[in-house]
This record gives sequence, C-alpha cells and structure tokens, in this order.
Amino acid sequence: MKPVASQDHRNLRTLVSRRLPSKIFNRLREIGALADAMDAPAYLVGGLVRDLLLGHTNLDVDIAVEGDGMTFARRLADRYGAGLKIFEKFATALVVFPDGFKLDVATTRCESYAHPTALPTVKPSSIKDDLYRRDFTINALAIRLNVNRFGELVDLYGGLRDLEHKVIRVLHARSFVDDPTRVFRAIRFEQRFGFRIEKHTLTLLKEAAASDLVHRLSGPRLRNEVMRLLSEQAPIRTIRRMAEFDLLRFLHTGLAWTARLAGLLSDLGKSLAWWTKQYPRRSLDRALVYFIGLMDELSASATGAVVKRLAMPGKETRKVQLVKKHLEPALRFLVRHRSPRPSETYRALADLPDEGLVLLVAKARSKDIVRLVSAHVTTQQQVRPSLNGVDLKAMGLKPGPIYKKILDRLLEARLNGEVKTKADERELAKKLAKV
Ligand code: CTP
Repeated sequence: MKPVASQDHRNLRTLVSRRLPSKIFNRLREIGALADAMDAPAYLVGGLVRDLLLGHTNLDVDIAVEGDGMTFARRLADRYGAGLKIFEKFATALVVFPDGFKLDVATTRCESYAHPTALPTVKPSSIKDDLYRRDFTINALAIRLNVNRFGELVDLYGGLRDLEHKVIRVLHARSFVDDPTRVFRAIRFEQRFGFRIEKHTLTLLKEAAASDLVHRLSGPRLRNEVMRLLSEQAPIRTIRRMAEFDLLRFLHTGLAWTARLAGLLSDLGKSLAWWTKQYPRRSLDRALVYFIGLMDELSASATGAVVKRLAMPGKETRKVQLVKKHLEPALRFLVRHRSPRPSETYRALADLPDEGLVLLVAKARSKDIVRLVSAHVTTQQQVRPSLNGVDLKAMGLKPGPIYKKILDRLLEARLNGEVKTKADERELAKKLAKV
C-alpha cells in the first residue's frame, strides 16, 4: 500500500483519476456537475473511499447527496437514459446505466433504531450525521464531487488517521448495539486488511458478542455476514476469529474451534486450490464450501437447524443436504475399494455437488481418491449412453419402469467400456428387455 500519509490529504482528485477506470472517473465528474446544477452537495462515500486510499480495487460506487437524493437520482437517470429503482422508505436508489454500470444514490441521513437490530428509521440530515451513523471510522470518509471542490476529502472522525495506523474503531459506543452485524464486519475488515481492533472498540465488540443481540438478527442478515466472512481470502482465520469471540454459538451451540476443525479447514484450503487450478471454468461457491466444511462438525439434523436459522435459499440448502447425505457413504466406499470400476465411482459421487467433491478431497487426504474424483469430473460426468427412451421405443420395447433400468445399465456399460457403439448398446438393451 502506498502510505496514505503521502497523499495530499485535502484533495484526492489525482488519486481518484489514477485509481478508478476513466469511465467511472468521468461519471463522477458528471455527477458533480449535475449536483452543482441542483445546488446540492454530493459525495462519494463508503467502502470505495476507504479502498481508494488503501490502493485496493473496489468498483462499488455509493453516492450520498445532501437534501433530496431521490430527485437527484431521477435527474441522473433521465439525463443518461438509465434504469432507476427507488426505495422511498430508505431514501436510496439504484441507477443502472445503459452500459450496465450501476451505482447507488442515497440522501444523507441520520438514523435512529426503534430497538437494537431493528432496521433503522432514517431522516434526511447533513453529511456530518450521515458519516457519524456509519460502522467504523475507516468507512466514514467521503470525497466531495461538486465541480469546484471535486476530490476534497471529508474526514470528520479521524478515518484517515485510523487507515494510516491500521485501526478499526467505532464512531460511538452504541454502534454494535444499534447494529450487531458490525461485530462480524469488524472481523471482516480486521482480517482482510490486517488491521487491529482498537481497545475500546474491542471491549464494546466483546460485550455485544457476549450478549444475545446477534440472536435477534434476521436469518438473511446473519447469513449475509457469515457468508461474507467465508468469502474472504482466508476463511480459516475469519472462522477462528468468530470462534474466539464465541460467535459460532449463534449458528449452533455444538460448533467450536477444535484441532480437528482447524485441520479440516486447512485441508479444505488446499483442496480448493487444487480444484480451481484443475477446473478454472467451473463455477464454485467458495463460501459454501467453507460453510459445508464448518457443518462437518454437526449432525444432519443440527445442520438442518443452522440452514433454517440462516434462511438459506433453496439451491444452497439442497447442496448442503446432498453433501450431508452422500459424502460419508461415498468416502467410505472409496476408502474401502481402492480400484473401483468407473461405474462404481460414478454411482458413489453422482449425487455430490462440486462443493461436496471439494470437501471429499479434503477429507480423503489420499492421492488415489483425488485421481478418482478427477476422473469422475473430467470423464465420467460427460458420459451418456447413445440410446434414449425414444430409441428404445423405436426398437419396439414396451415403455415402463424397465426403461430406467435399461438406461442406467447402458450408462454403466458405457462407463466401464463394456459397450463402445450404438449397435453394442442396442444389443445389450435387447438382452436386458428379455430378462
Ligand atoms: N455501513 C455501516 N454499517 C453497516 C453496513 C454498512 O455503517 N452495518 C456503511 C459503511 O460506511 C460501509 C458502507 O455502508 O462502508 C457500505 O457498506 P457495504 O457495502 O456493506 O461494505 P463495504 O464497506 O463496501 O465493504 P466490502 O468492501 O466488504 O463490500
């Protein structure tokens, strides 16, 4: 990281123009001009400002406008023929430009919480209040966009100093109580940037973690935080940190940091590295791999309870269930049968999603099993019999449950190389139909 101290603290125009793609930089300048036309102060806010100063890539543009951000968003969308979605209740808008570029616009606001963990009630207010309501000082920096002041850093709470000293610090003592997701966010930024949680902030974080505040978070909000922690570069460290603050209990009381879990997560890291190198084009849900790894400590019913608590979407839930059901039997089979026939490997692994195969490789710790998984993914998964139901019918075979049996057997025969041509398959199908 280029030392933040070496930047011109007051004006970041050069930094913004150098570090952002010119398309985004130009758009920010246009936003500044439009804000001038409306006589409204406009700012770049949030994680992008922090990451610009740290020299990290981030293209999530959040704009805050003092006064009436929604009218500003409408004008912006009108001028550029952009799509617009306004969330009146929260005074936020999503603007989608014709080239696909998206940005968020919000009216600067102050927030009040009816009770801890409630979504905040928002009231339009100054940029000063808007920055004060934020989680940590490093995320409470803004850059002015209006033409004559373009690039001016707004640093009202010592965010720049904390970035330089690598410190995570809340802006006020109620921060974690207002929004307990910040307990997880603190860990995320601490681990991602290698920062230190400041002493008073740490005390407040521990108090919040020891209370039952996190229990009151909705499923999707808690899931979002947990999965974001599992999406970080080194989930082994973020999971360990969650355990140190006793946060895993909010998923399940049976979860704890153990030598076994540490070993599994470390093997999972290696297995993931192997998988992504082998199959760079297959999309894999990395965070879900770690989630399933974490669930390895729990029974199927306990895992079901976690999935329910987190209100996991159907697709992910299904994958977790499949792994819980099929991974252990598959592993046992492969350990016992060192040289299974291709059709046997296929049957053992067929119901596991890719995330489950990665976990299986991690748990197997065996080169032979890696080879079997590899053959399964690169070859066996692609194999299909040449005949289908229509062909069987055309051959005069009477439709019924026998079709599935025949097609399954044809697949096995193909996998094992017992049949090589369509004619071979026809012959086998006829034989099977007679039995
Ligand atoms: N924010 C906050 N409290 C929260 C969530 C968000 O104060 N519980 C504010 C912070 O100012 C944050 C900004 O909203 O910078 C944007 O939030 P988000 O997009 O979730 O986080 P980023 O800081 O951009 O983090 P990441 O890089 O992980 O996306």
